[in-house]
Amino acid sequence: MSAQTGSPSLLDTAVERFYALVVADPQLAPWFTGVDVDRLRRHQAEFLGAALDGGSTRFDLRRTHAGLGIDDAAYDRLVAHLAAALAEVGVDEGHVRELAALVDGLRDQVVEA
Ligand code: HEM
Repeated sequence: MSAQTGSPSLLDTAVERFYALVVADPQLAPWFTGVDVDRLRRHQAEFLGAALDGGSTRFDLRRTHAGLGIDDAAYDRLVAHLAAALAEVGVDEGHVRELAALVDGLRDQVVEA
């Protein structure tokens, strides 16, 4: 993150916005209450990174999310917030749709309910 010096990058702004949307969502709150903020920020950054990276991540997502009972609806909401955050920082609609589709490739590793 480059938030400490100069102006924040577009990606920092997108992560910031994504984060704000997720924590303000009452349907996602049950998953994230009690999760510490640093982990949550890593989560958002990794989520965004996975989109930009063509749907890959260096984490073992199945293990990380095992037992959390994440369902399709919750997954869809996170992806929707990601899309909204990207659109807000100026990514065009076609690219936003493409990135959301890439993240969808990770769904099976995260959703278990
Ligand atoms: C592309 C999809 C996803 C990616 C790439 C992703 C990535 C990650 C990563 C990397 C961590 C570990 C952070 C750390 O330990 O520092 C994490 C934790 C977590 N994720 Fe996700 N995640 C995804 C989807 C979701 C969804 C849909 C939910 C719930 C609605 C969710 C809820 C959580 C929670 C609650 C934790 C914290 C677990 C804990 O601290 O014990 N994740 N995620």
